Amino acid sequence: MSFAKPIFDVQKARADFPILTREVNGKPLIYLDSGASAQKPRQVIEAMSDAMGRSYANVHRGLHTLANETTDAYERARESVRRLINAPSVNEVVFTKGATESINLVASSLGLGLKAGDEIVVSEMEHHANIIPWHFLRERQGIVLRFIPVLDDGSLDMDAYRALLGPKTKMVAVTHMSNVLGTVNPVAEIIAAAHAVSAPVLLDGAQAIVHGAVDVQALDVDFYVFSGHKLYGPTGIGVLYGKAERLAALPPYQGGGEMIGSVTLEKISYADPPHRFEAGTPAIIEAIGLGAAVEWLEQFDRAAIAAHEHALYERVKGGLNGANWLTEIGTAPGKGAIFSFNVAGAHAHDVAQILDRYGVAVRAGTHCAEPLMRRFGVTSSARASFALYNTLEEADSFVAALVKAQGFFS
Ligand code: ALA
Repeated sequence: MSFAKPIFDVQKARADFPILTREVNGKPLIYLDSGASAQKPRQVIEAMSDAMGRSYANVHRGLHTLANETTDAYERARESVRRLINAPSVNEVVFTKGATESINLVASSLGLGLKAGDEIVVSEMEHHANIIPWHFLRERQGIVLRFIPVLDDGSLDMDAYRALLGPKTKMVAVTHMSNVLGTVNPVAEIIAAAHAVSAPVLLDGAQAIVHGAVDVQALDVDFYVFSGHKLYGPTGIGVLYGKAERLAALPPYQGGGEMIGSVTLEKISYADPPHRFEAGTPAIIEAIGLGAAVEWLEQFDRAAIAAHEHALYERVKGGLNGANWLTEIGTAPGKGAIFSFNVAGAHAHDVAQILDRYGVAVRAGTHCAEPLMRRFGVTSSARASFALYNTLEEADSFVAALVKAQGFFS
């Protein structure tokens, strides 16, 4: 028996994004910088506007109608996120301001229970957001950071990883999908090996959550973090998923309203997760916007989106046809739809600026991953990152613009 593959209707999805109809420098916008931040469908924009214009108050505090309505909308967003990652309970979904804050929260709270000489395993391909918070523990507490090396194709050296694990390992924190290389790491294997030495695992899912389905229960991951703004939602909102027992063991990160059980002048007791980690008035409108983004995404088959994005990447690779003036960084098997490259004789910033003249938006620089840049012997790269709204025609136009840009440097 054979089943037809689900088709992803890119034009239908694209029509939801008002910004994609605009021009840049007299050319139709070709937005290939979604890895930095994705554009927003009107359903997200409208949900946020409605939340401010029709029913707004603070959450969890009031007894009046608007407070109750807004609290319901905020908690409905938490339930949408729970569904997205298949978390067992909404109490395991903490709203933060982004993946960066989620990692800082875990590092800072977990760090309180660590001692000098304890080890944290990270990788050479991490975004700075998954290096610096752990580096704070090295500076302040004598925690030892161990880095999993990256192989030439941009995959992790898994033998080296296994050799780094031991009784001193107190956390393994790695990216699920590299923001530079597009490498999708073998996270099931990483988690199983870490658990064999009783170490918890934190996955930075900022890129991976956008490009494929994530099931935290199937992964058996301890912490999973991501941002709203790369997932077609707003800025200022992110998620920390933590297994119930892991979150329960973490002391609070920030103090303030909402995160307490009771307060006297002598003694404070703390609320249970997730509220223990949501001090102060949260990003109410942004959480509602993220919930709307998740609900909007639910209309699509995630595997069909992934196939579409992969086709975009392949179209670019095919169009460039092994051009000898271009070096791709990151060619691991099964990689996601991120294309990092350098053009011979050109600085990546110049390439990006010339592409902009043709309406093509790409990122250039270190991508907040300086150790990885150093690993590949470069100071920067240009990066085209694909999203569900990009078309094959845009992939062709990007290749044509890149060929023209190369002409400036040859
Ligand atoms: N982390 C984002 C990127 O990779 C900003 O571009």
